[in-house]
Amino acid sequence: MRTLRALVVAALLCLLPVLPAHAADLTYDFEDGTAQGWGPRGGGVTVTVTPDAARTGSGGLAVSGRTATWHGASITGPFVRGVGYTVTAYARLVAGQPASTIAMTVQRTPTGGETTYERVAAATVTDGEWVRLSGSYLFTAESSDVQLYVESSDATSQYLLDDIVLSPLGDPTREPITSDFEDGTAQDWSPRAAAVLENGATAHAGTRGLTVTGRSATWDGPALNVLGRMAKGDKYALSAWVRLGPDTASGRLGLSIERRTGGTPSYERIVAPKDVPAGEWVQLSGTYTLAYDVEFLSLYIESDTGTFPFHLDDFTMTYVEPKPVQTDIPSVKDKVPFTMGSALTRPDTLGVHGELLARHFNGATPGNELKWDATEPREGEFTFTDGDYLVDFATGHGMTVRGHTLVWHSQTPDWVFEGATKEVLLQRLERHVRTLVTRYKGRIAVWDVVNEVVDENQPDGLRRSKWYEIAGLDFIRTAFRVAHEADPDAKLFINDYNTEFPRKREALYKLVEQLKSEGVPIHGVGHQLHLNIEHPAASEVEATIERFATLGLDQQVTELDVSIYTDFVSTYDTIPPELLVQQGHRYKELFDVFRRQAARLSSVTVWGESDDVSWLRSWPIPRLNAPLLFDDDLQAKPAYWGVVDPSKLAPLVRKLEAPAAAVKVDGKRDLEWDLLPDAPLARVGDVSAGFQARSSSAGLYVLAEVTDPVVNADDRVTFTVDGRTRALGRTSPGVRRTATGYRAEALLTAGTDVQVTVHDRGSLTSWTGTVTATPAVKRTTAPHRATPPVLDGAVDRLWSGVPEIRTGTWIQGTSGATAKVRTLWSGSTLYVLAQVTDPALSESSANPWEQDSVEIFVDPGNGKTKGYEDDDGQYRVSFTGRVTVGGTFDAAGVKDNVRAAAVAVPGGYVVEAAVAMPTVTLGEGVPAGFDVQVNDATGAARTSAVTWNDATGRSYLDTSHWGVVLLGR
Ligand code: XIL
Repeated sequence: MRTLRALVVAALLCLLPVLPAHAADLTYDFEDGTAQGWGPRGGGVTVTVTPDAARTGSGGLAVSGRTATWHGASITGPFVRGVGYTVTAYARLVAGQPASTIAMTVQRTPTGGETTYERVAAATVTDGEWVRLSGSYLFTAESSDVQLYVESSDATSQYLLDDIVLSPLGDPTREPITSDFEDGTAQDWSPRAAAVLENGATAHAGTRGLTVTGRSATWDGPALNVLGRMAKGDKYALSAWVRLGPDTASGRLGLSIERRTGGTPSYERIVAPKDVPAGEWVQLSGTYTLAYDVEFLSLYIESDTGTFPFHLDDFTMTYVEPKPVQTDIPSVKDKVPFTMGSALTRPDTLGVHGELLARHFNGATPGNELKWDATEPREGEFTFTDGDYLVDFATGHGMTVRGHTLVWHSQTPDWVFEGATKEVLLQRLERHVRTLVTRYKGRIAVWDVVNEVVDENQPDGLRRSKWYEIAGLDFIRTAFRVAHEADPDAKLFINDYNTEFPRKREALYKLVEQLKSEGVPIHGVGHQLHLNIEHPAASEVEATIERFATLGLDQQVTELDVSIYTDFVSTYDTIPPELLVQQGHRYKELFDVFRRQAARLSSVTVWGESDDVSWLRSWPIPRLNAPLLFDDDLQAKPAYWGVVDPSKLAPLVRKLEAPAAAVKVDGKRDLEWDLLPDAPLARVGDVSAGFQARSSSAGLYVLAEVTDPVVNADDRVTFTVDGRTRALGRTSPGVRRTATGYRAEALLTAGTDVQVTVHDRGSLTSWTGTVTATPAVKRTTAPHRATPPVLDGAVDRLWSGVPEIRTGTWIQGTSGATAKVRTLWSGSTLYVLAQVTDPALSESSANPWEQDSVEIFVDPGNGKTKGYEDDDGQYRVSFTGRVTVGGTFDAAGVKDNVRAAAVAVPGGYVVEAAVAMPTVTLGEGVPAGFDVQVNDATGAARTSAVTWNDATGRSYLDTSHWGVVLLGR
């Protein structure tokens, strides 16, 4: 009878899966003197209502006569399928009973399956006081014989129960989940494998947390069942605090989710494992959108390596109510003269994200779903479920689809290369390319046939991928040929990043030129354009487009995003609003270029429709980034207005440093100006400019390098400093003609608020900002030597007469090891001799920068960029001659540039190092960014650090404050 009623209710719930909010709680307080449906479970058990068992009021339940752990009190069918409940109860042992674990468990039998037992709540209970049990419960599979019962780890323990409350959650997918562990239990968390979860006193807030030990694998740890708590297409914010266990010095932890559909598990990272420094609580926070129908859904904490113990506390999961997509702003696609695309993955098609995509974009690139690992995970086994879905979504919304990507070194399964001769590899390639292009013939207009095959640091400019190593250039030729055969109408592209950097630009250019001349069917060049807020200059992007235009191929911007970070370690907790304004201006500058070049550019694709789905939230490290046009709530950012209507942007106040210096005001470019790059003024028409300033007691020296090929009578630059304006025309004193325009210099009354405007007939371009006086940029000279020094740490004759500099800019401490440094050059190499005064030497820290060592910083182009360009290097040599290298996130371009020797001498050590500079042509008068830092270790800690020029302490991240070495004769 009871069961039947439950079944009827459950059947109705299939139609109406969501209970009205505020459905009544089921409360068992035993105040009416009855057991309120509770009865004995197990032979010989008695359940009685007595005042002695009351926690509150005058009734409670006493349970006795138990002879097995599963014996106790039970009630039938309190839960309804598909409805989530929070469950609380109070338990206490009868006086004299030994402490035991009391647990609330659900027994049920899924239709056609075996009886299951699911733990709802548990706690250690004594005869001393009432203990609260709490947990939550939901079941979704049709089941019979649903019972809730209370058991004990002690087979005979007699216990009391009172105030049992089952609260149905209104809509379980809208109810927040929190785990604070303050009740002394594991609060619904359970181990994924062998891990042991214990409530403990290490807490983030309050007094209790969860301690996790005995992990058997990186993925073993605490897991929380969230099936039924997330709805498909909805977004959830998740946060957990973690801390390393005692005796664990370092480790990385992240938050992941396992979902199963049709029995197949998939694993996704919500927060990629991040550094958890010993002794600190670290927050793992992120959002997740469930994009699939699932029968299993479990969140868990995992490490990237190791099985170390850790603590978990203050977990929350909350539904993120979407803001409606704005309908009163223009569609981006209506405001640009090319196809406007976005990358998308499956979750992006749902809900408000899907609306945003449809409203603003008429191009689409599946972000991962057409890559090799997604389409042919095992040889000959093609899977197109997600690819088809996205191509259908895109074409259904009238979007042009870019197929990304047929051949890549990344996201390609190992089997592709296993045991592959060139012939076998090309066969595998041919089948893969033919299968994909044929399947989407007529529906995918453009293919990225090969992705990221260029490496400008190789002599032939080609990346040493497995593809290349096994098949040479033929993998590229084959891929294009087969793609063309499979769909002669598809436009076939080569796609790459950093194509706006001159060296990579040229390496790619050479390759494309060669392929074209061989008759390879290549139709276009894709520029990924993963840029950041500072670099590279929009003018470099334009130079790239103009360069490739000479090949007569189509071009597309394929993966545009603008990171708010210039390095790969910084993180913001909240993003400063002025940075987003700056980003808006950066987008404007870029779209100015794209519009100007529209005849050569058939489409521009952003790598994601809104910040919350950007890959830059996890690459190169997990961090808050906001690189796209719409924010986490899908609202238009300044970046959007920079593209659509820049007049809506707040004005940008830039910043410029004016190092101390005096220059001759004569329209000639003194060497002093070459110490730093010119700050760009955006190009308008054919006119653009660069600007610099120097401070001195005489006033503010300013320089404008104007590109303006056509001479007009009223061509001029105006400098306004703190309200006073000086105009300089082409014939004014301090102005000279240059190959592409003119140069203007002036000495102005000192001030901080500066506007520089270049006028050309009707149009003008400006720089507005504040200028700050800073110390002079130090410079030294490296004389030339026909023969290079022997790298042995001995100060041989070659070094005599070489200018010497000293480190004296303290970035940590105020005294300690220092160095006298000399530089010279020979061939294409810079040589550095550092004589270090440091009487106590230590290499005992595991971190090379905390060992006694000398760091040499070299920026071959003297680009002075915030963040490292790929030929900028940080070369560290310890006192024992151990070399470590830093640079871009993998230092790939520079790691082979250095050779060094070190010898101990009385009172210190000598480092002699050679830094090759293959990316520039060395010669007299060439400046390079240069700095030296001495790290002083005491035992395993660094106790001081001193540089030659850079006072920021950021020279390992940012090259813009290094000094300069000038190559001499
Ligand atoms: C990225 C995807 O966006 C991520 O989801 C994935 O984890 C890694 O790949 N260059 C490319 C793209 O050509 O395929 C990459 O996409 C981003 C860099």
